[in-house]
Amino acid sequence: MELSLSKRISQLQPSPTVALNTKAKELADQGYKVINFSVGEPDFPTPRPIVDAAIEALNQGKTKYSAAGGSLPLRKAICQKLEKDNQLSYQPGQIVAGIGAKEILFHLALALINEGDEVLIPAPYWVSYTEHVVAAGGKPVVIPYPSDHKAARLTPAMIEPYVTPRTKAIIITTPNNPAGYTIPEAELRQLGQYLTDKPWWIIADEIYEYMSYDFPAISMATLCPDLKDRYILVNGLSKGYAMTGWRVGYMAGPSQVAEMVRTLQTQSSTCLPAFIEDAAIKALSMGSAATKDKMGLLKARRDMAIRLLREMPGVDMMPPNGAFYIFIDIRKVLAKSPLYANDNSLAFSAKLLEAHHVAMVPGEAFGAPGFLRLSYAVADEQLIEGLKRLGEALKAV
Ligand SMILES: Cc1ncc(COP(=O)(O)O)c(C=O)c1O
Repeated sequence: MELSLSKRISQLQPSPTVALNTKAKELADQGYKVINFSVGEPDFPTPRPIVDAAIEALNQGKTKYSAAGGSLPLRKAICQKLEKDNQLSYQPGQIVAGIGAKEILFHLALALINEGDEVLIPAPYWVSYTEHVVAAGGKPVVIPYPSDHKAARLTPAMIEPYVTPRTKAIIITTPNNPAGYTIPEAELRQLGQYLTDKPWWIIADEIYEYMSYDFPAISMATLCPDLKDRYILVNGLSKGYAMTGWRVGYMAGPSQVAEMVRTLQTQSSTCLPAFIEDAAIKALSMGSAATKDKMGLLKARRDMAIRLLREMPGVDMMPPNGAFYIFIDIRKVLAKSPLYANDNSLAFSAKLLEAHHVAMVPGEAFGAPGFLRLSYAVADEQLIEGLKRLGEALKAV
């Protein structure tokens, strides 16, 4: 008997970054010396005081359910963080904490989107946004990455051609994964002014907030307070505190949105574990100081990677100033071979993994074919060896 599955969910693509990471691990298990540049996580450990807070909570028996959407002490700690870092004033009722920013973003899509609503997603985008929108019955409308990607990040002129009466929301990510850029203040302000008279939800993914190297990342909500009734700030502890495995994310926004996202959590994951909440409160109390020393290390790796990439003929990039990614333009190299026609970086990344044992996520995963995403949050020796192999693979095209 053949029973049918959900048509909507059948359209979803599995996360390409998770898939590539799994394949890289399989090859490593077979004994190959794989260099994995595909992972979106810092390579340093969670700071000790945060780990200790979790251990202490476990020793105190905090092993039960906590409150849906986060306990009041956790939500208060998030309010304090937003006040201190971003000069934004929120009440605990406007905050929802969840199982990673990913769960928050997924639930936000379910909470905001009706069948056929369009969501503007500027490319290159984080892999899950489009699938969240599809799962919610909406239509992702991708704003293409401009061909000359070096100057433009996201301007009103780039957005305007994709606006329709069905536009319901826009997702803005700065600092950006995968492009590694932080939108400078003047540009962000201009974008905020453009959005002022647009009847859209603004979903602002600020998860790489602490990872901006050349100037601090600013929240658009801080620059443009008029947007606050439509602005949904999403952040999390995964990146800035090296806490990917702890799964803590949160949103701050209008109370009716927070209420819906919290309701969804009561019907899905229920809550964060209580002992994880204690660790999260500790992390938030430490602020960016928790990992500040690591930012210097990442900056040095970024500079080394840029230097090594610049030695590779045909390779181009927007100089990155945020997150821990370089989005490498290999279109000139791919154009040399019919195997990689139409900027087929997907085929090149498969070859790179199979023949050279280097895992890099292809641009297709982020809506921008012809690119490779390098995550440079890896040890120096790995970075040097992996980029040497990348250079060889590009030379062989
Ligand atoms: C831009 C962006 N947003 C959200 C997330 C989700 O982070 P988490 O679910 O670990 O909080 C990631 C993780 O890679 C990301 O890169």
